[in-house]
Parts: sequence; structure tokens; C-alpha cells
Amino acid sequence: MERTLILFKPDAVQRRLSGRLLTRLEDKGLKIVGLKMLRVTKELSAKHYAEHVTKPFYPLLEEFITSGPVVALVAEGPQAVAVVRGMMGPTNGAQAAPGTIRGDFGVSRQMNLMHGSDSVEAATKEIAVYFKPEELISYESTLAGWVCAADEAK
Ligand code: RTP
Ligand code: MG
Repeated sequence: MERTLILFKPDAVQRRLSGRLLTRLEDKGLKIVGLKMLRVTKELSAKHYAEHVTKPFYPLLEEFITSGPVVALVAEGPQAVAVVRGMMGPTNGAQAAPGTIRGDFGVSRQMNLMHGSDSVEAATKEIAVYFKPEELISYESTLAGWVCAADEAK
């Protein structure tokens, strides 16, 4: 089953939206298999945002993502990467459609509440950056049979 790495960014934690964002993931039918709070260091930021480190906006992005605690999660489900990106909406909350997380909760390009891996390859790398293998919990979900059909669960 596909997995994706999610962060509730410092703005989401400070605005006390973590519970509501987690509820949206659970309501969608995604299974949470890893969850913790941490502070992103400058080193972790550079690793996570490696593709952006040389861009002009990186200093402000680094300042923001290291400015307070984040909640890191691993969610599992059919097409989890694309599903979560769709739930988040585009980068800028001012342009994100109502109904998306960024569209419902924000108006900012930087303070856009949540990160979700943008490809299966990125998800694999990011999960390994944030979680040790033993921090990911495999368990049977009693609702699994009501969330998707057996031939979709891969
Ligand atoms: P994220 O990686 O955080 O999930 O967001 P994303 O895929 O929607 O956006 P991405 O292009 O990967 O950019 C990462 C973060 O950098 C900030 N950003 N600032 N000033 C700018 O032009 C600019 N562009 C991007 C945003 O905070 C974005 O979430
Ligand atoms: Mg990105």
C-alpha cells in the first residue's frame, strides 16, 4: 500500500489546527502509520527541501519551517501521495480552491499549513528522513474492508 510523508507546518501547530487536519486525513480513509512532533533543524530543512536550497526564497522558507514544532505523519492508502496532494491544494492558499486544506485554512504561499510528498520516490526518501523503520507501526485496521475493495488495497 502506498505511503506518503505529511508535515503539519509550524503555522498549523501554532494556530492549533493539528487536530482538524488529522481529522480530515482520517475522514478521507487514510491510515496513519507514523506520528510524532519534532522541531525541524536547519540541517533537516536543507535535506527536506534539497531541491529549493539554492532558490532565492530558501532563507525565508528555512526560517519559517524551523520557527516552531511540526507534526510529522506517515499516511497509507490507495494512491496516498496523489490523494494527499489533492486534499492540500496548490501551494498558495490564496489560489487554492475552497474544499482543499490550503484553500479552507489559509491565504499564504509560505504559511500553507501542510506538506505532502509530491511523488512516490520523494515519499520513500522523506519517510526515511523523518522516521526510523521501528517508528512506523503496522497494524490491522478494523475499518479497512469498508474503506476500499481488496483489489484496490495495494
Ligand atoms: P511543500 O513542498 O511545502 O509541500 O509545498 P509545495 O510542494 O506545494 O511547494 P514547493 O514548490 O515544493 O515549495 C516548497 C515551499 O517553499 C515555499 N515557496 N516559496 N517565494 C516563493 O516563490 C516560494 N515558492 C515556494 C512555500 O512555503 C512552499 O510550501
Ligand atoms: Mg514541495
